[in-house]
Amino acid sequence: MMRFNLKMLAWFLGVLILAMALAACGGKTATEEPARPSNPGGTGEAVNLKGDPVKGAEIFEANCVSCHGEEGKGGVANPGSEDGEVPALNPIDPTLVSQDAQTFASNIDLFLEHGSTPAGNSPALSMPKFGDDKMLQPQEIADVIAYVIQLNQK
Ligand code: HEC
Repeated sequence: MMRFNLKMLAWFLGVLILAMALAACGGKTATEEPARPSNPGGTGEAVNLKGDPVKGAEIFEANCVSCHGEEGKGGVANPGSEDGEVPALNPIDPTLVSQDAQTFASNIDLFLEHGSTPAGNSPALSMPKFGDDKMLQPQEIADVIAYVIQLNQK
């Protein structure tokens, strides 16, 4: 009788642990929403254009490195922001990544079109609205998106 109870207990605990592990994994993927910019708005024309990552690398060097670091590796201080640093783009926030290239590009494009102010009382650096302020043309935005995606596929 004693042995039977211990076996039952072990079996029950095993099932319980497995169920908890499955619930933890399932819950994570189901609730992890992609990061979105603080400024509203949809995707721009760039998402319908084919980007050239070689041209994108030059655009990145001229427009993005000062805040996101060489090859998007980050490490740039952002005093007054909750994170304390400008986010790295290599590796990029995993919630922006998608196996579907169109979804991945759209997630990045929203930040490029409309800009974003990071959380915190007075962030020194904010993501500029390259699209809305016409700082970059749609083709240039498509090119820099292609480059950022390439950085994350290495
Ligand atoms: C003046 C500084 C600055 C420049 C220049 C800049 N960014 Fe940003 N970028 C930021 C900040 C700050 C954030 C974080 C915004 C937030 O948390 O809401 C950000 C966020 C992003 C994000 C979202 C990443 C994430 O983890 O949420 C992407 C993608 C991005 N930038 C791409 C670019 C690209 C591409 C360029 C160049 C065309 C660029 N940025 C130029 C400051 C900058």
